[in-house]
Amino acid sequence: MSKLNIVILAAGKGTRMHSDTPKVLHEIGAMSILGHVITCAKTLKPNKIIVVYGFGGETVKDTFLGENIIWVKQAEQMGTGHAVQQAVAYLDDDANTLILLGDVPLVDTLDCQKLLSQASDKLAILSFNKADPTGYGRMIRDPHGQIRAIVEHKDATALQQKIIEVNTGIMAMPNQYLVKWLAQLTNDNVQGEYYLTDIVEFAVQQGVSVVAEITEDEWSVTGINAKTDLAKIERIYQTRYAHQLLLQGVTLKDPARLDIRGTLSCGRDVEIDVNCLFEGNVRLGDKVKIAANCVIKNAVIDAGTHIAPFTHIDDTQIGENARIGPFARLRPGTILAAHTHVGNFVELKNSQVDLGSKINHLSYVGDATVGKNVNIGAGTITCNYDGANKFRTVIEDDVFIGSDSQLVAPVTIAKGATIGAGSTITKDAPADQLTFCRAKEQKSIASWKRPVKIKK
Ligand code: UD1
Ligand code: CA
Repeated sequence: MSKLNIVILAAGKGTRMHSDTPKVLHEIGAMSILGHVITCAKTLKPNKIIVVYGFGGETVKDTFLGENIIWVKQAEQMGTGHAVQQAVAYLDDDANTLILLGDVPLVDTLDCQKLLSQASDKLAILSFNKADPTGYGRMIRDPHGQIRAIVEHKDATALQQKIIEVNTGIMAMPNQYLVKWLAQLTNDNVQGEYYLTDIVEFAVQQGVSVVAEITEDEWSVTGINAKTDLAKIERIYQTRYAHQLLLQGVTLKDPARLDIRGTLSCGRDVEIDVNCLFEGNVRLGDKVKIAANCVIKNAVIDAGTHIAPFTHIDDTQIGENARIGPFARLRPGTILAAHTHVGNFVELKNSQVDLGSKINHLSYVGDATVGKNVNIGAGTITCNYDGANKFRTVIEDDVFIGSDSQLVAPVTIAKGATIGAGSTITKDAPADQLTFCRAKEQKSIASWKRPVKIKK
């Protein structure tokens, strides 16, 4: 296989986004538009990826720090040809170049491969038959169907404007030709720009074959210019992701009501109900069920676990056959072992809960180590923070914490201990004993009367 250089054009201002963020940094599925293009580029295993940047370029560069990318600046936007000219110094003599657009996030790897399979001795262009071709460069073919030129909309005659086959902007060719052609460009056209598309005529004049691959998939060649495009492409991206999951055997109650902003990998017989959002990296084991309205980020959920509605999970690991929610909140650093139960209005943070333990109602458990087979009663709170420092609570195996107790950390509840309901525990509780701490006496006042409304 011959050497490959990929040039990504990303100097466009993106005025129509009405945003302080450079256009290519807006996100689809929580990855920047340019990030999607770079991801596609990488799958093609190029020797070099060269990004031509302009407006807001420094922020764009910083976003991709540490990636093996060559950045070249196009200070002034003088056209697509001028943009590619900025990259010439980095092009390898013996390579082919693929040109991609930094604002076309759903670019298809297979389409690129089709172009590249012809790019060693031809100019290969990805085209598309567009119902409304307004604004696009038109593919001009001779009566034999051979491509003769690309004419920009503004330069086209009325007859040429009727042509619906348009240039997507994605093309590939050998560098030995590209470099020569770039040197021949002029800006002698309606827009006074250096058009990359003029290389088609040069190729024809010099007897180099020009071929087009016509894609059927409009979205894979759609550029983002406004927030309306961003929203549309986001939906397409999500629909396609959901479709992939369905093909893998995941049950989605409604594929239109699922959002994945990152990667979601699923085992067999996973079920996901409506309105769930997955962020970062989420892994669901076999037979996991996610009920409606859950938000799950960076989590590993093992086989057989059920997540009930309205549960929020962030940076958490959950073992097999656990029961979580409804209305549970699992915050970063939470590790739940198999067969654990976490119920409604329970918040866990940086806590490890061992096999079979239950925290079913209205509790805050933070910075705690909870052993096996522990039952934490309703309304239990670990007081982990003194306003300046955080301390751990240790609850050993087989402990029973009575409802509405406060465990003031640092504190250890030893194995098999029972804490009486309503206790405020400030000292370690010994193993296998009942420990409680309440007001001494329970009083009843026989003569007491409820206050009544005073009539005016
Ligand atoms: C270009 C093509 C047109 C094609 C259309 C597809 C030319 C002359 N025209 O149109 O045939 O139908 O794309 O969308 O090539 N860019 C730069 N620097 C510049 C100008 C553009 O980096 O000076 C980048 C933009 O950021 C964008 C891409 O090139 O990613 C295309 O630019 P855009 O202005 O959208 O396309 P046109 O030039 O109008
Ligand atoms: Ca333009």
